[in-house]
Amino acid sequence: MIPVTKPFLPKQAEFKSYVSSIWARQWLTNNGPLVNELELKLQQYLDLPHLLFVTNGTIALQLAMQALEIKGEVITTPFSFVATTSSIVWQSCKPVFVDIDQETLNIDPEKIEAAITPNTSAIMATHVFGNPCDIEAIDKIAKKHDLKVIYDAAHCFGTKYKGKSIFAYGDVSTTSFHATKLFHTIEGGAVFTQNPDVLKKMAFMRNFGYSGVDTFSELGTNAKNSEFHAAMGLCNLNYIDQILSKRKELSLHYMERLGKADAQFQVIENDTDFNYAYFPIIFKSEEIMLDVMKQLELVQVYCRRYFYPSLSALPYIDKISMPICDGIAKRIICLPLYHTLTAADQDLVVRIILRTQNYRKKQVVKLADYGTLVNGSNLGLVANGH
Ligand SMILES: Cc1ncc(COP(=O)(O)O)c(C=O)c1O
Repeated sequence: MIPVTKPFLPKQAEFKSYVSSIWARQWLTNNGPLVNELELKLQQYLDLPHLLFVTNGTIALQLAMQALEIKGEVITTPFSFVATTSSIVWQSCKPVFVDIDQETLNIDPEKIEAAITPNTSAIMATHVFGNPCDIEAIDKIAKKHDLKVIYDAAHCFGTKYKGKSIFAYGDVSTTSFHATKLFHTIEGGAVFTQNPDVLKKMAFMRNFGYSGVDTFSELGTNAKNSEFHAAMGLCNLNYIDQILSKRKELSLHYMERLGKADAQFQVIENDTDFNYAYFPIIFKSEEIMLDVMKQLELVQVYCRRYFYPSLSALPYIDKISMPICDGIAKRIICLPLYHTLTAADQDLVVRIILRTQNYRKKQVVKLADYGTLVNGSNLGLVANGH
């Protein structure tokens, strides 16, 4: 069986040694030494002065919004994981969708200004599949209209833009360290900001709003993470360079073999050191994509429709058409990609994709000829495919 992803697991002995140290200290959570060590090591690795390790990438988004005092309308992308939109609604704000660029799959900055109203207070954009948004354009619009910018960088561990960690951009950047992510802490996430006041606020908010033993500075929540999760992060951080280079090798292998496929691939922003976290492929039609998925499942290869459906179709959102996003969401899948995937596994996936596409092409030609003969027209038969 080839799943779409598998979590990276370090050597068990390494994790066990951290677990023994937790047993010895009997300090399980509440800003323990392993949480501190992980935060410091992540700062060093990412070359960033600050970050806060939190429970998950969803609460990271909520903390960011709460700390930046976001109210009213938030301009956002319809092409992301549900948490991007749900956290806006969770904070009692209104998501205002702006369609995406069909090549980068990120929010299209050229369409942002038309969506700004007197109630807009922020832009929440996702660097989709680790591909940086058009940061300069978004920044310019945000400054002009006095808006905050939150980047959902859940997919971005290891991505750099203009030589700096992608987490350095925006008023706040957030990420996820969920088990499916390239770097993970089983469950987990982080918030990043260069603003010391916002950082302080988020640090207090992460811990119920405590600002001292018996004092509270603001409304808080429980967004802390535990020593066990930090231990997994510390183990995995030792492998991060290997993980990133393996992801790149696997992605380039797919790309080389899929060059002949009748499909579209995400265009990566210039000046990016990309992390190759996912391998999305966009087919010509939903029908072809479903056929490819079916053929892959016959040999137990499981891809994922990611992201589908478009977030503007969520049941708690006023329906709005986003033609580019709606079109892409129906035709895109992520191919299997994980550290232990082999080139032979990839070749199987590629063979099936190419074979399904070729078979469909031949069928269409055959049926088209037949249609001309029988009906004097080939239209309906081509549409019915095989
Ligand atoms: C774009 C995006 N934002 C937010 C999240 C939420 O992260 P978490 O699962 O850690 O809550 C995810 C998780 O997959 C995601 O892909």
